[in-house]
Amino acid sequence: MLSESKLSLLQQLVQNASTEEIIWTKGYLAGFLDKNLIKNIVPSIENHTAVTVKPLIIYGTETGNSKKVASSLLANFKKNKIQAKAIDVFQFDIAKLEKENLVLFVMSTQGEGEFPQNAISFYESLKMSNLNLNKVSFAVLGLGDSSYSLFCNAGVLLDEVLLEKGANRLLPLVKADVDFAETVSIWESDLQEVLQNFGSNVTNEMKPVSSTVASGKKNYLGKISHKVVLNDTGSNKETYHIEIESDDEISYEPGDALGVFPRNKEEEIKAIATYFNEENYSILADKNIRGLSKKSLEAFSKLFELQIIEDRANLLDVIQKYQPKKVKFEEIIALLLPIAPRLYSISSSSEAHDGQVHLTVNLNKFKVGEEIKSGLASEFLADFPLGEPMDFYIHKNQNFRLPSKETDIIMIGPGTGIAPFRSFLAERDVTGAEGKNWLFFGEQHFVLDFYYQTEIQEWLTTGVLTKLDTAFSRDQERKIYVQDRIREKAKAFNNWLENGASIYICGQKNPMSQDVEQAIVEVISKERNITVSEAKQILEELENQGKYQKDVY
Ligand SMILES: Cc1cc2nc3c(=O)[nH]c(=O)nc-3n(C[C@H](O)[C@H](O)[C@H](O)COP(=O)(O)OP(=O)(O)OC[C@H]3O[C@@H](n4cnc5c(N)ncnc54)[C@H](O)[C@@H]3O)c2cc1C
Ligand SMILES: Cc1cc2nc3c(=O)[nH]c(=O)nc-3n(C[C@H](O)[C@H](O)[C@H](O)COP(=O)(O)O)c2cc1C
Repeated sequence: MLSESKLSLLQQLVQNASTEEIIWTKGYLAGFLDKNLIKNIVPSIENHTAVTVKPLIIYGTETGNSKKVASSLLANFKKNKIQAKAIDVFQFDIAKLEKENLVLFVMSTQGEGEFPQNAISFYESLKMSNLNLNKVSFAVLGLGDSSYSLFCNAGVLLDEVLLEKGANRLLPLVKADVDFAETVSIWESDLQEVLQNFGSNVTNEMKPVSSTVASGKKNYLGKISHKVVLNDTGSNKETYHIEIESDDEISYEPGDALGVFPRNKEEEIKAIATYFNEENYSILADKNIRGLSKKSLEAFSKLFELQIIEDRANLLDVIQKYQPKKVKFEEIIALLLPIAPRLYSISSSSEAHDGQVHLTVNLNKFKVGEEIKSGLASEFLADFPLGEPMDFYIHKNQNFRLPSKETDIIMIGPGTGIAPFRSFLAERDVTGAEGKNWLFFGEQHFVLDFYYQTEIQEWLTTGVLTKLDTAFSRDQERKIYVQDRIREKAKAFNNWLENGASIYICGQKNPMSQDVEQAIVEVISKERNITVSEAKQILEELENQGKYQKDVY
């Protein structure tokens, strides 16, 4: 596969050539290959660049993909005896940027075209700084998902600001989609080429085009065939078990998520259109009109010529509160972005649940003033009629995968965090994996909120599930969470780890996953009689080896 720029060169050449010239070129290329027997086909950074190049790889990540790419790039450099370093953007001191000669950025995009949490302050500080980067050469690899309208936007913004500060762009920005492996490999290969001449031909005039390698991501058309609320009457939660089917064979693995494209409610978009005396409201169906960001609301303040004071609000609420005058419907449309898709961890196994994908979706509820509102996508799924067509895609997650069949696993998944572990257990059950399985589950009440209780107890009876620990926080006066159960079981937990078990956490990022991580560190420190920072290092090593994986949101 060629990069876009090379492919375009080749196409130009072929289009302008006669048949004889093409035949001659074919023979020339065959001879060339024979002589140079494909020694460069696997992209690696050649070691004759070792003398001059000391690349610094800076990555910004939310779910670990960019870190993974950065680590593999680093390993490749090291293999070729090039002194490279890789660092999380959060830990990088921006004042030191001027002193670097070659910086490679791997940056994912989050939210609606935003930087990952850990990279926000780096970008803001860089933008505001007076740094002169004219001695710095750089290349940016953006990681993203082309289902989002602002595809790889953080990479785009970073690339722009580096140029603004005078840095020299070595390669055009590359945008990698969710199946990024091939794009990364091509980027590495292009890097290899420019690094061979590094120092001599770095120029700001290199074409600022962005290249995108097409993604093989497939959109499916399916239907919800079954839907049931997992909570009992009286629960504070409303969590749905949803089964989806498609005429196409749906290809996924345990650990993957499903991407949904929610659409707005008809009465809501009709009300907005009616305010502007517009009858045709369908154009609003897939525009983001919910939870508008501060930035978006500032744009509406300008359009409405008044001050919207909210930090986040729905468009209809804003219109009803501020009653804008002399504004055209088209001007509203021009300010709106498409709705971003939402991901849901898959809770089934294709081995065990033939032709189906299951989800475990909590109806997101929150208060705005005195009003209780629902999240767009979770409500869309909760209300979606059975049997009606629905678009979706599979979001591969190579950072959340079952280990080999004989490896033990510890799964910590309170609330909807149980989803991928139902998939793991079903898969291990049907494939007869020998590894032991330990599940920590938590919710508010045992009788109301024990998701998949019957199945879990069945797995406990049959021995698929070796150990189960539950924490129902509101069944007693003192709240008990999964992290408390981990501390209570410190000895066994540490024994499992010492015997090679892998740890998995899924569910709420804040505060759950941080509290759980803290508990694990404490357990390792206490049981091994080592300092907390030594225990943290052990957990970090486990993470680097892929033995500690998180799928948190
Ligand atoms: C990899 C991954 C896996 C996931 N797996 C699962 C899963 O298995 N199960 C599951 O239930 N979820 C899962 N999620 C979360 C899911 O993707 C959604 O984020 C979640 O359902 C909320 O989306 P929503 O559209 O319903 O809410 P949204 O409409 O996006 O609202 C989200 C939040 O935004 C704020 N907000 C929105 N509108 C306003 C407003 N007008 N004013 C003030 N604040 C506002 C509120 O705090 C609200 O809670 C996962 C996420 C990821 C990234
Ligand atoms: C909540 C959420 C929002 C996202 N928003 C965008 C986006 O606006 N644009 C984009 O290109 N990708 C978006 N993505 C896709 C991620 O950038 C992509 O999954 C990437 O591989 C993540 O890399 P990381 O693990 O290094 O953070 C989003 C992903 C999630 C989970």
